[in-house]
Amino acid sequence: MKIGVIGTGYVGLVSGTCFSDFGNRVICCDIDEGKIERLKQYDIPIYEPGLEPLVRKNVERGNLSFTTDIPQVVRESDIIFIAVGTPMSPTGEADLSYVKSAAAMIADHLESYKVIVVKSTVPVGTGRMVQRMIQERIGNKEISFDVVSNPEFLREGSAVYDCMNMERAIIGSTGDQAASIIKELHAPFETRVLVTDLESAEMIKYAANAFLAAKISFINSIANLCERFGADVTDVSEGMGLDSRISGKFLQAGIGYGGSCFPKDTEALRHMSRSVDYDFSMLDAVIDTNAAQRMTVVRKAQDVLGNLSGKTIAVLGLTFKPNTDDLRYAPSLDVIPVLVSQGAAVRAFDPVALAEARKILGQESISYYDDLYLALDGADACMILTEWDEVLHMDLTRVQKLMSEPVVIDGRNCFPLDLMRAKGFRYASVGRPEV
Ligand code: UDX
Repeated sequence: MKIGVIGTGYVGLVSGTCFSDFGNRVICCDIDEGKIERLKQYDIPIYEPGLEPLVRKNVERGNLSFTTDIPQVVRESDIIFIAVGTPMSPTGEADLSYVKSAAAMIADHLESYKVIVVKSTVPVGTGRMVQRMIQERIGNKEISFDVVSNPEFLREGSAVYDCMNMERAIIGSTGDQAASIIKELHAPFETRVLVTDLESAEMIKYAANAFLAAKISFINSIANLCERFGADVTDVSEGMGLDSRISGKFLQAGIGYGGSCFPKDTEALRHMSRSVDYDFSMLDAVIDTNAAQRMTVVRKAQDVLGNLSGKTIAVLGLTFKPNTDDLRYAPSLDVIPVLVSQGAAVRAFDPVALAEARKILGQESISYYDDLYLALDGADACMILTEWDEVLHMDLTRVQKLMSEPVVIDGRNCFPLDLMRAKGFRYASVGRPEV
């Protein structure tokens, strides 16, 4: 099939590349000329394991190409994906300006029947709005088109795997012809397909993300109770997860969720609820619980160290999770300024996100390290915010000797309690007894 993808962010680039790998001819386009030039040189603008070789392979096979020429993409494609960003606006609402401008460009160059697929995460009703917008713009020209909502469920860091092994394809469509074309496009993925109306497909994406966020906030609240009752949340999660109706996934207690999706999508769903006067108080609780959870590591540091003024704290991991360079809504961006405001000197370690972190957090009372042991040398405490492999596999004996005080505040429950006890650490983690 001939496919055009507008927007070469995570979603557009990964799904376009995966479609090309199954033999489709895919043109990915973006208004950002610099990005397209880099992509033509196989220089991938995002940190995503496995993506570069797949891009290279499919460009060399002639299945994948990059351009800034949107009219060409519209003319030469049968299916056009809109995969542009929908960032959070200051009110919490999703900003649809990129979606609207992509829809306008498609309308202005439409000459024959196309399936226009919205892959960006958009508020319920957007597909219908795109359909109306395009119809108005083409006026009484005799061209037909369909709009499909086909949300994406990939995770950063395992985006290629998630796309190639998708658990389901959701296809919400304005017409049967378009639904069967998009269904056929998904045939090689051998995945379950659910065909719905446009609005339901759009809602599925928000409902799924909000539900996963709710699981995380729920287990974090249980973790806080475990601490007060002397229980261990890792055992509690395991026990709960043995019930297949619950499943153990997304039941890892810690410092809460961050990233480009959960914070943005829960806020957008809250905004949608308010717009129809629905009091989604459960969603409010998910969001508020997550915000409060971030600060639990600061309280734990104060409990162990007392006043943080003059203390040196090595913060391990700055990204919102491992295997990504993404700092959007990362807990580190909230936690580190609080440590600094309380007079601590922060030594920040991250294997991939230092340059970006320096831009956001600045240099005052913060030094940056790509070597974890240098960050820990002489520190009064170590605070783990991201469970990078470097952190999970650090040499604890060496760390214990390097630090001025062997104190570890672990926001990600990286180590067994017995091990930390045996290594001589004072160890405070989330929802587990203190060592
Ligand atoms: C998420 C969804 O998983 C994906 O389907 C959607 O398309 C985009 O949003 P992503 O944001 O890349 O993907 O990361 P994910 O692995 O889901 O983790 C999100 C956040 O939740 C991270 O900050 C992670 O640390 C946290 N998390 C996850 C927990 O705190 N506990 C868990 O058990 C799982």
